[in-house]
Amino acid sequence: MIVFGIETSCDETSAAVVVDGRTLLSNIVASQMEEHARYGGVVPELASRRHVEQLIPVFRQALAEANCAWTDIDAIAVTNRPGLLGALLVGTSAAKALGMALKKPVIPVHHIEAHLYANWLTPPDNERAIADYPAVALVVSGGHTDLFHLRGHGDYVLLGRTRDDAAGEAFDKCARLMGLGYPGGPAVQKAAEGGNPKAITFPRATLPGTHEFSFSGLKTSVRYALQGENLPPIADIAASFQEAVVDVLSKKTIAAANELGVERVLLAGGVSANTRLREVMQQRCDKAGLALFYPAVALCTDNAAMIACAGYWYLQNGRTATLDFETRASEPLAGVQ
Ligand code: KG4
Ligand code: ZN
Repeated sequence: MIVFGIETSCDETSAAVVVDGRTLLSNIVASQMEEHARYGGVVPELASRRHVEQLIPVFRQALAEANCAWTDIDAIAVTNRPGLLGALLVGTSAAKALGMALKKPVIPVHHIEAHLYANWLTPPDNERAIADYPAVALVVSGGHTDLFHLRGHGDYVLLGRTRDDAAGEAFDKCARLMGLGYPGGPAVQKAAEGGNPKAITFPRATLPGTHEFSFSGLKTSVRYALQGENLPPIADIAASFQEAVVDVLSKKTIAAANELGVERVLLAGGVSANTRLREVMQQRCDKAGLALFYPAVALCTDNAAMIACAGYWYLQNGRTATLDFETRASEPLAGVQ
């Protein structure tokens, strides 16, 4: 089955062609990041306008690179929730039009669920194994820090989430405080490369007895660390901040896996591209006898391949596709049990 995926929930216009929810024939991502960078964050109206301009060229490129024609496509999958409403509507309107013209099913996909499904795509290096259930999954993106118990396709329990800032948001805000620019995650990772992660002991909110997270106290501490004279090098502040985030994320994820008795841990979302997070998670999972899965770096941040993959699994599991679905700015993926 060949699924055409569409993603426009934030500042990436993306289209992809994926076979059987696994093999990427193409995955085109047109990023608007540089344009939003001068405002220090995503400007929603600007994002919608750029999606309108980029969509058709990105669609054409995705088909051409996959060596496919529209007639080869079996279904269309599109992000319809959560995200910036105007941006989402550009993608869902296009998907519905395509579905009508091609007489093919259109599958509305939850963006966070698609981030999880990036773990089911064959990575370009083909070396890592594909994820499976049951598992504990940590979704760390610009808007979410959610810990889930994944029991099977579409069967998830929310264990906990952040009480304030998302992990990616903490990277972005602290990068701005450090004068490192936008998006903050990759900038902090780069700045941290030569730094000492033990230079400053930033607070770690462990919130015992819960699977919740909190990063606002850490952000305030970074602000204080940047005040006064004789500041430590930015590399040390960046490395120490990154270490604090990674420490809490990895400890709490592994504790949840142990508590539930599952043997697999999945990472997903933009922050799972972070090298130090992958490294520390790997060390701690190895020690705890847990199998760790994370997507290829290019598939951690927003992309349409993960949307196509999710759409494939929705169809495999009998979720119906109709053209009258809604587009929503927010909707939780799963509830607490
Ligand atoms: O999943 P994503 O592309 O978009 C959302 O759905 O939010 O995640 C974007 C977030 C941003 O906050 C960005 O700073 C962060 O992921 N990010 C990283 C890295 N690459 C992207 N954070 C830490 N280290 C990275 N290498
Ligand atoms: Zn995302």
